[in-house]
Amino acid sequence: MHQVPSEQHLFHQGSETATTLLRRTHSWPWMRLLHLKPGDICVFEEPTYFLAFTMARNSFLELKGVPIMEDGMDLDALDKVCTESEGKVKFVYTVPIHHNPTGYSMSNEKRVRLMQLAKKHKFLVIADEAYQLLNFGKTDMKPLFYHDDKEDPRVFSIGTFSKLIGPGTKVGWVQAHTSLLKPLTDIGFIDSGNNPVIFSSMNLLHFVESGALAKHIDAVSKDLGERCQLICRKLREVGLEVYEPKGGYFVWVKSKGKKTGKSGEATAIKKDKFHDYMRLCFCWLTREQIEEGIEYLRP
Ligand SMILES: Cc1ncc(COP(=O)(O)O)c(C=O)c1O
Repeated sequence: MHQVPSEQHLFHQGSETATTLLRRTHSWPWMRLLHLKPGDICVFEEPTYFLAFTMARNSFLELKGVPIMEDGMDLDALDKVCTESEGKVKFVYTVPIHHNPTGYSMSNEKRVRLMQLAKKHKFLVIADEAYQLLNFGKTDMKPLFYHDDKEDPRVFSIGTFSKLIGPGTKVGWVQAHTSLLKPLTDIGFIDSGNNPVIFSSMNLLHFVESGALAKHIDAVSKDLGERCQLICRKLREVGLEVYEPKGGYFVWVKSKGKKTGKSGEATAIKKDKFHDYMRLCFCWLTREQIEEGIEYLRP
């Protein structure tokens, strides 16, 4: 018996899954599926969810950033990138609601315009709506899927139970019109009944159908909303400016010297921006820890 270092292991859900995964990652499957070519582009909001970059890089896409504002992605900048790159923008990745890390949400007007641009420039939109159901008050914002055109569909609306129940849940869903979704279900191991989350999804079914999930979301959203108010109040007390989000997990703060939480640079494609920003997550810590942590930031 000898020990093998953990970095030499990838745990999986069965050998077929592992084999298919290997083939997929080594044969550029997305490129074939979506007729991608080296040099094709995925556009991101900057800052954005830092792990989203890896997913695009794994698909051999080039990454470009456009700024994000309080009402969502800068769509003039997106239009410009698309025009200048002459048809190479194939994906736009957005976190349209309770954005990670800024907490901003895309307005309904911008959602309509984003879909117009998607048609004009023929790109697909990956709407990462991880925080869609975590609202601190009433919201009229529906998943981006509901802005899509069935006749010329362009949106994948992606949701997850991980942010509703716990980070290890790792069960999520994709909502898209059938012609977009079909190629995903045609992937070998999923087609042959090996979707790795069948068992865990079945475990969640009763939780959802019994109404317990809805009650849980109400309780969690109320609690998160209170923590969010607390962290924002404390930040203002110590002289820091903050945008108060209407849902989600995060506040995005420009530091005045001292920093805590996640440093901003990981949220820029080239790690060349946001050095003086921090993403503060208010969902994990107790109220006492939040107060203590923010007190530490007092300049
Ligand atoms: C925007 C966003 N998408 C996705 C995830 C990860 O979701 P999952 O656990 O379902 O992979 C996170 C977690 O931080 C996130 O902030």
